[in-house]
Amino acid sequence: MYFLRYKKKVKLVRDGILSKQSQQPLRVVQISDSHLFASTAGQLLGLCTEDSLKLVLDKVRLEQPVIDVILATGDIAQDASVEAYQRFHQHLETFGAPSYWLQGNHDITSPMITTLGGKSRLSPCVIDQGPWRIIMLNSSIEHQVPGKFTPRELKFLRQALDESLDKHVMVCLHHHPVPMGCKWLDTQVVRNADEFLGIVDQYTHIRAIIWGHVHQESDNVRNGVRMLSAPSTCVQFKALSDDFAIEEDLNPGYRWLHLNPDGSIDTAVSRVEGVRFVIDWSVKGY
Ligand SMILES: [Fe+2]
Repeated sequence: MYFLRYKKKVKLVRDGILSKQSQQPLRVVQISDSHLFASTAGQLLGLCTEDSLKLVLDKVRLEQPVIDVILATGDIAQDASVEAYQRFHQHLETFGAPSYWLQGNHDITSPMITTLGGKSRLSPCVIDQGPWRIIMLNSSIEHQVPGKFTPRELKFLRQALDESLDKHVMVCLHHHPVPMGCKWLDTQVVRNADEFLGIVDQYTHIRAIIWGHVHQESDNVRNGVRMLSAPSTCVQFKALSDDFAIEEDLNPGYRWLHLNPDGSIDTAVSRVEGVRFVIDWSVKGY
């Protein structure tokens, strides 16, 4: 496994282990939009985000006996507090798998770096394992809801793609790079999505792009690239809604992905079962 940050490369796993691992799928768990607060009693739209995250992670524990990497795709904290990030970190540490984080519109980079003890597992960064490279990008501008890539971020993307032409690639970000069919959410598509997708379209080794932010699952294909969004570990947003709306029939969940050595991907979303979550229906936004 390698961690790259721009031109810095640190080799962490011997090649012999890598070649053995490359016969197996890379087993990934995506956790998104936990919206934790400094207080464990913190609520989003009446739902305790700490409790719902714990239930989702219990589900992960039950269903995923082997995890190679956990990807946290933003809005980890609602209030950007160190306490929220530290608790999230402690929860993920129990899985014994490395976790990599990227920033959502509610996140602030500085306390994330503090919590992770450095920048190597925070976007922009890459994860190399066997025939796969995962590229983590920061699509967020601090204190703003819609996303936008900085020129530096797009330069990082190009470089990470140029360096990995012999690999399969999955790109991860927080904001949706394509419309979801939700009018209110589609005002928050990455502002320079055209620039981002223009780069993506120049390469043939990108197999998937995954994101969070939209609090709903989707699974489509664009120009041969799998386009996947994940549910939130707390409140779900209603699909195809013109106005802000909560999805009352779907529980919090996560996405698992098996990145196969041949470049194919097996993936699905799994949700908490047997629990009725209490939502404050009087809230008309978040
Ligand atoms: Fe979110």
